[in-house]
Amino acid sequence: MASYHCIVILTGAGLSAESGLGTFRDEGGIWTKYDLADIATPEGFARNPALVQDFYNARRMQAAEALPNAAHLALARLESEHAGTVLTVTQNVDCLHEAAGTSELIHMHGELFKAWCPACDWRDAWRSDITPQTPCPACGKTGSLRPDVVWFGEMPYRMDEIYSTLGACDLFISIGTSGSVYPAAGFVVEAARARARTIELNLEPSEGASLFDDARHGPATKVVPAFIDQLLDEKTP
Ligand code: OAD
Repeated sequence: MASYHCIVILTGAGLSAESGLGTFRDEGGIWTKYDLADIATPEGFARNPALVQDFYNARRMQAAEALPNAAHLALARLESEHAGTVLTVTQNVDCLHEAAGTSELIHMHGELFKAWCPACDWRDAWRSDITPQTPCPACGKTGSLRPDVVWFGEMPYRMDEIYSTLGACDLFISIGTSGSVYPAAGFVVEAARARARTIELNLEPSEGASLFDDARHGPATKVVPAFIDQLLDEKTP
């Protein structure tokens, strides 16, 4: 493998698109059908908790049926075969990286298959529907339990660890993300500041495309395995 000591991979909804999970901003994407302010903000949840829970219940059910695709599998292979550090940071709330075998993983926008009770800070694995009547298993309060996902206006998870690894990385790979949501959209700048090589693998040039050293455009199931194969072959891809 080319002499990279520390690789950071950022993934977004485009990675799971070919596993049958919808993206947000493409034609027909989730935010073309729903108003983001109603579904993915604390204020939207306070206004209409049943609407928000129904949305995430449907997404949880859909994600439970999805299987990792060739791109998830290639990324897991990179982690297992690369001698140095590989940290995968995902904006996705599905569990397809884990299903593919990736273990050094940060879900910066949380996880569909976890629930959180802000009233008592209980947080654990959760696979069934949540309704406004579902009691928190720890404190018994109703109306508090929510999917453990990060909404707009809330702080993404484990940012200190992410920034510290970005500051030490020598290769940054961004996959299947539109580059329109911060702080993730700014990771390429942090990596470049650390003098890392930066590359975008996406269906089309993202909003931040000009910030990257290099790009491969096409569906993730094609471009990701090809790029990882080259990387593991010790060629300069
Ligand atoms: P977007 O829907 O904004 O962007 C998806 C990107 O994936 C686009 O640039 C597409 O061109 C690309 N894409 C689509 N299909 C692809 C494929 N088969 N292979 C490769 N690329 C493909 O999704 P994200 O960037 O992940 O946050 O969105 C970021 C955040 O905004 C999400 O985590 C979510 C959303 O609102 C919250 O809900 C907090």
